[in-house]
Amino acid sequence: MHFLSIRFKLTLWYVLILGILLISFSTLLYFTLSNSLHRDVDNKLRSLAELIAAESSSPLSKFGFGSIDQALELSLDLKPIGKFIQVLDESGRVGRRSENLKNVQLPVSLQTLKNATQGIVTFETHRIGNLPLRIITYPVKENHHITRIIQIASSLEDVEEALNKLFLILLITVPSALVVASLGGQFLARKALKPVDQITHTARVITTKNLNQRIEPLKVKDEISRLVDTFNDMISRLDQSFNQIKQFTADASHELKTPLTILKGEVEVALRKVRSPSEYIQVLESNLEEINRMSKIVDDLLWLSKADIGEIKLQREEVNLTAIIQELVDQMSLIAQSKRIQIQTIHPNGGEEIRIYGDALRMRELFLNLIDNGIKYTEEGGEITIHLQKERMLSNQEGRNSSDGRKAEFAKVIISDTGIGISKEDQKKIFDRFYRVDKARSRGQGGSGLGLSICKWIVEAHQGEIEVESEPGKGSSFIVKLPLYNPPLT
Ligand SMILES: Nc1ncnc2c1ncn2[C@@H]1O[C@H](COP(=O)(O)OP(=O)(O)OP(=O)(O)O)[C@@H](O)[C@H]1O
Ligand SMILES: [Mg+2]
Repeated sequence: MHFLSIRFKLTLWYVLILGILLISFSTLLYFTLSNSLHRDVDNKLRSLAELIAAESSSPLSKFGFGSIDQALELSLDLKPIGKFIQVLDESGRVGRRSENLKNVQLPVSLQTLKNATQGIVTFETHRIGNLPLRIITYPVKENHHITRIIQIASSLEDVEEALNKLFLILLITVPSALVVASLGGQFLARKALKPVDQITHTARVITTKNLNQRIEPLKVKDEISRLVDTFNDMISRLDQSFNQIKQFTADASHELKTPLTILKGEVEVALRKVRSPSEYIQVLESNLEEINRMSKIVDDLLWLSKADIGEIKLQREEVNLTAIIQELVDQMSLIAQSKRIQIQTIHPNGGEEIRIYGDALRMRELFLNLIDNGIKYTEEGGEITIHLQKERMLSNQEGRNSSDGRKAEFAKVIISDTGIGISKEDQKKIFDRFYRVDKARSRGQGGSGLGLSICKWIVEAHQGEIEVESEPGKGSSFIVKLPLYNPPLT
């Protein structure tokens, strides 16, 4: 396990916190038990001392010499097993003693004696030989005088043994618990972080060639599963982008290859024998047509790639949309007439000029493409109608007021034709680059399938929307919505 790994850090924190808790708990347990056992011994010593001191109608009531055991048994019916008793007079002279003391004297320090003469009870712990003893020095007062001092000692051997045993148990169990906890912690951390390892592994092996690889989604929904989902989503998006790029490159090469093949074929055929000037002119004219087509594709591609990397900047100003569209209609009418197609403009707002805040050149390009499509994909004798109107936001868009609080209005341009129409399936794709419903037909018309991608980019760069409504065989309507020009309030 690496020392900087999350697994190591998690385990370390876990063991550290558990260690602090266990040690605190053990210390508390040890001292509480020790206190309680010592207090118990002290209480028993005091009770016995009080009992002996209270006895006044026996030899015990006076200072004397000899064994105390008999006197206790006689007057108190008491056989204090394991207790060492000695009685002193107020000067510290030892009188009666229990037999088990043999020739040993319970120690009495000057301070203790001083305390006793002042009527203060003293508890002390002494070690005689190897034996730990708890000693109470209890002065007996009669008529305001200290008549005797009772000293009782009790062995602390059992207490010490119990505490030592507890200490030993804690000394073994606490470190063992910590070792087990660290193993458990490592196991848990490894289990919890396994999906992260999996993510790392998958991320490492993913290249542009195997972007279809995914991490197995987790059953339990937690932070890691969200990370897995996010990672999988990211790969999906990358996969989609790479596929689009691949498709785009293939389409672009194909689009350029067709006119090149035609050019090559025409030139090769023309060179097979000497031709008349008019035949050369015919070949060159046809060549020029293909060259123009290639030139348009390259221009469009260049434009789109510049737009992709943000190099196309809009020159925004107040633009008279009504005038631009009218100009275009006038220019395109000639081509339309050659197909006997009528173009008419309708202004439901009573001829009021519609102005937007945009790039005039791009607006021309947008509507030129849409009218051009209308003419291209409408049979002879058809009709193209352009509606130009102002509209208010729908009620659910009311929130989108303009910054000065005025109700947001937008320009709506509908370019409808009575042409071949577009199926529902194709409507979703026509804004994709190089997408054409009928390749042969569109190519025959000089199209490469880039026009609507450019239109979509222009509209979106102007914070507008473009959509299509169409029914195959009946016609299509392209609806463009653009934010209006809002002159500053004076
Ligand atoms: N008004 C329309 N009626 C029917 N089909 C249309 C119409 N406009 C576009 N389409 C379909 O959508 C496809 C994509 O249009 P787009 O303008 O992007 O390309 P294009 O017209 O083929 O070529 P380009 O505009 O680059 O010269 C067209 O090939 C055509 O199939
Ligand atoms: Mg077009």
